[in-house]
Amino acid sequence: PGIVVLISGSGTNLQALIDAAGDGRIPGRIRAVISNRPDVAGLERAARAGIHHEVINHQDYDTREAFDAALMTGIDAHGPDLVVLAGFMRVLTPGFVGHYSGRLLNIHPSLLPAYRGLHTHERALEDGVEHHGCSIHFVNTELDGGPVIIQARVAVLADDTPDTLADRVQQQEHRIYPQVVRWFCQGRLTLADGQVWLDEK
Ligand code: GRF
Repeated sequence: PGIVVLISGSGTNLQALIDAAGDGRIPGRIRAVISNRPDVAGLERAARAGIHHEVINHQDYDTREAFDAALMTGIDAHGPDLVVLAGFMRVLTPGFVGHYSGRLLNIHPSLLPAYRGLHTHERALEDGVEHHGCSIHFVNTELDGGPVIIQARVAVLADDTPDTLADRVQQQEHRIYPQVVRWFCQGRLTLADGQVWLDEK
């Protein structure tokens, strides 16, 4: 199966997927990496891996709809079976989400439904929660609200800072995203009527 990965920044989740596709853990091929921002480290990661990469800059479009339309055209040029949001920092329109329904994944650095939105690690620390983590979900029209596929949990330590907590969460992100993409490429992971199904092999 063909995969297109959308990024906005460092691309450490992209790197985890590149590594997993390279060593066979993901039975699929990353056909393209698209960033909405130029000059980000994730684009270099794609270049080093010899993966087609391009920038579709949201600043070049007057409306959210126009940007999403250009993004869809860019994505569909590669005919993907799966679109993966990996550190992609744009809110997508209902038209875009509907077009990729059931084959659009996102990772969010919190134990959803807690801490939707930004600055999740700071907020978790402020609240003094015992556990924090990350969630992978199918994307729907609610921001960070789609059906959750899997969550990884970390204990919050007394001396945690947002950075130390984010580091431990990201280690879990890099562990579970390849796992979820593997399941999808095996044809075992489906979204039906808002329910997530993981079929046996
Ligand atoms: C990660 O914490 C991810 O959960 C969030 O964006 C952050 C950066 O991801 N979506 P990456 O290093 O660009 O993959």
